[in-house]
Amino acid sequence: MLMRRAKRQQVEREKRQGLREAGRFNAQVMDFARQYIHPGIATAEIDRLIHEYTLHHGHIPASLNYQGYPKSCCISVNDVICHGIPSDYVLQEGDIVNVDVTTIVNGWHGDQSETFLIGQVSDEARAVTQCAFDCLWVAIDTIKPNCRVSDIGTVIVRLAHSRGFSVVKDYVGHGVGRKFHQDPTVSHVPTPEGRRQRLPPGVSFTIEPMINAGVPDGEQDEKDGWTVRTKDGRLSAQFEHTILMGQEGPEVLTLTKLGPQRGHRF
Ligand code: MF3
Ligand code: CO
Ligand code: CO
Repeated sequence: MLMRRAKRQQVEREKRQGLREAGRFNAQVMDFARQYIHPGIATAEIDRLIHEYTLHHGHIPASLNYQGYPKSCCISVNDVICHGIPSDYVLQEGDIVNVDVTTIVNGWHGDQSETFLIGQVSDEARAVTQCAFDCLWVAIDTIKPNCRVSDIGTVIVRLAHSRGFSVVKDYVGHGVGRKFHQDPTVSHVPTPEGRRQRLPPGVSFTIEPMINAGVPDGEQDEKDGWTVRTKDGRLSAQFEHTILMGQEGPEVLTLTKLGPQRGHRF
């Protein structure tokens, strides 16, 4: 059934507003959590704080029970690429830790992550974290309305390889909206599918490059079925934003007030 133009425009406007509100709240959760991310805290405690804060504000942690996932966020330490399950592990000086938060606000999703440096870290830990941050931003600064999805992977691979790092292929960004994960698939390396797929105004999606110090390959923990670690045990870092493509260019919906801003040096 075709919608009348006025109706269609209203639906688009409600989507933009819903996504903006979800992105803003999700960023607020990240800004709430960051004060606790220090040596000595267990990752399950960070998860509990995020869970309580989200419920207290009347919203829903999207990760909890998502395809059986047991916690309200993902916390991925050092060699964990993604989907680390919050646990009794206590953060210690020298760790790098990605906290990935997704919430549902009035039916719309916001999804973002940051990698945090815990105290003083090695030069390699700092460099791989900086690289993941710069890869996210170089992609944001590259995309334009109706560009190809593969433009994202092209600039990310170029930057990561120029610094001697690798880009994870097996886990990707994704469309995000009323669903946590929807079309399009947003690979961080160029792919044939990405060369065919475009990003028109109105599309909402994540960019979330995972950058490894060593090999790009990961393996899933057999026991918990979630945690993905680098095959070589070397470090992995990641940053993620939710983005809405506008008529003029991308709008980053999950900008924080207190976190690293575009151009940040770690
Ligand atoms: N937040 C992750 C992403 O960026 C997905 C986590 S799924 C979960 O897509 F079930 F592990 F939470
Ligand atoms: Co995501
Ligand atoms: Co995420």
